[in-house]
Amino acid sequence: MIHQFDTIIVGSGGAGLYAALEASCKSKTAVLSKLYPVRSHTGAAQGGISAALGNVEEDKPEWHAFDTVKGGDYLVDQQAAKILTEEAVQAVYDLENRGLPFNRTPEGRIDQRRFGGHTRNFGEGPVRRACYAADRTGHMILQTLYQQCIKNDVSFFDEFQVVDLILEGTVCSGLVVVELATGELHIFAAKAVLFATGGFGRIFKITSNAYANTGDGPAVCARRGIPLEDMEFYQFHPTGIMGLGILISEAVRGEGGILRNRDGERFMERYSPTLLDLAPRDIVARSIQTEVLEGKGIRGDGKIDDYVHLDATHLGADVLGTKLPDITGFCKTYLGINPADKPIPVLPTAHYAMGGIPTDTDGRVLLDKDGTVVDGLYAAGECACVSVHGANRLGTNSLLDLVVFGRRAGLHIADYVNQAAMPAVDESDAAGAQSWIGRLTDGSEGPHGGYISDEMQTTMMEKIGIYRNERDMAAAVQEIKELRQRYDTVRVQDSSKQFNTDLLELIELGNLLDLSLITAESALKRQESRGAHSREDYPERDDDNWLKHTLAYLDGDEVRLDYKEVDTSIWEPKPRSY
Ligand code: FUM
Repeated sequence: MIHQFDTIIVGSGGAGLYAALEASCKSKTAVLSKLYPVRSHTGAAQGGISAALGNVEEDKPEWHAFDTVKGGDYLVDQQAAKILTEEAVQAVYDLENRGLPFNRTPEGRIDQRRFGGHTRNFGEGPVRRACYAADRTGHMILQTLYQQCIKNDVSFFDEFQVVDLILEGTVCSGLVVVELATGELHIFAAKAVLFATGGFGRIFKITSNAYANTGDGPAVCARRGIPLEDMEFYQFHPTGIMGLGILISEAVRGEGGILRNRDGERFMERYSPTLLDLAPRDIVARSIQTEVLEGKGIRGDGKIDDYVHLDATHLGADVLGTKLPDITGFCKTYLGINPADKPIPVLPTAHYAMGGIPTDTDGRVLLDKDGTVVDGLYAAGECACVSVHGANRLGTNSLLDLVVFGRRAGLHIADYVNQAAMPAVDESDAAGAQSWIGRLTDGSEGPHGGYISDEMQTTMMEKIGIYRNERDMAAAVQEIKELRQRYDTVRVQDSSKQFNTDLLELIELGNLLDLSLITAESALKRQESRGAHSREDYPERDDDNWLKHTLAYLDGDEVRLDYKEVDTSIWEPKPRSY
């Protein structure tokens, strides 16, 4: 079946819905989602969205931009960070006007709290910059935007999984998609396609990411010759529930929670004397792992899965109940403890991809280091790399990235589709997708994908984790290549057409394997430590040789790497200290 829309958005999280909202003002717009839209992973974002409103203490967009650049270890494109932080203020008020129920100060303004790496006056001390709706900020953004999209008559195709992108040279013409309810392939012709498919934390064993976070947009693009940028920079959030990885929001530390080792010591005093527990995430995650490996974890055995305590007992039941109700609930459900009475056992958890599909600041996808644009193809949100997070994202800048760059992409699309012609597509455009799905479902015997998935996640967790080295990363590349070969023999075990989650999981696994290979190769080649990419064998940042973005092209079984300049037009890179 062939459909036609001016604009197709893939993904119904914050970036996708904001883009749809703007695009639908001037064009016939559809949103495709593998989920029911309000189950998108934006809904799991807890602690807040940053904007220098200055509601509770003095703050400025310029300070916010500087923190973003420094927090990203100077791999951030600085003009993009300026746009992010300047447009943040209006973006938050727009959300408020659209109905988002932010927490309030006693005077009725949007309340703000502290978050990691956010400072006043270029690093002097912490500042309250995160606007929040208890610890359900993402959930509230998602509900608000979904309601607005319904009001704008956006068409929703729920439970449709993207499989392929239709490209003619450097022009995008549409998508090939499988309808999960029937197993049928659909072709969508569109003047503009925007990927907003979110992250791919499921390449790792322990992650805060939902099962659906399998990097479908970046993987589809990579297989069509589009490079992926800065994939070696993957963020581990310092505080996931020990053993499970479920997120315990940084907002707990923003409200005053303290990390402690087995001696009860506030160990962040040694690692970050100024910002303490609210240092940027790469620093806090490394500090926790160092404590654990040195035998100062709670068990004290020096094993990698030992943990530390996040102590929120002094915050009291009132603050926990009103400002952190979901966290309180998670602790009760998954750990059987009340955080008002007992410290929370935590360990870093794979959380966020700084890298992704390269774009300009209007969301247009870029094909190379010279900035060649793919006409009609856009990306926004976690699946994109604009690049405002550099080597390490600051907490709450993710929700901000979604709304600022989702909105900008939607506005650009609205103009673009009004002068572009509807591309011609036909059934033959589905040939690639048909052959992939045909092979997975051809009825022959093949291994179950679950074992491959398990091995991939273990390899990535153990060898491309918080601390990295040449030997482990080279082994990871080999292991992932072998797993990709085994993937070529997998088959569905369930042959039904309707809601075949077995088939869905195999499609997702193919995507995750491609992204694992690109991540591992990009990491292996970067011989320095910067932000979340921390190498035991190259412990220093090396601006002379490595102040550059990686562009990784997937070429069959190989990954070809190229590099492009970082925009340092505002602040000269300096060593980081907190
Ligand atoms: O800790 C958190 O609430 C996560 C926020 C973020 O990743 O921006």
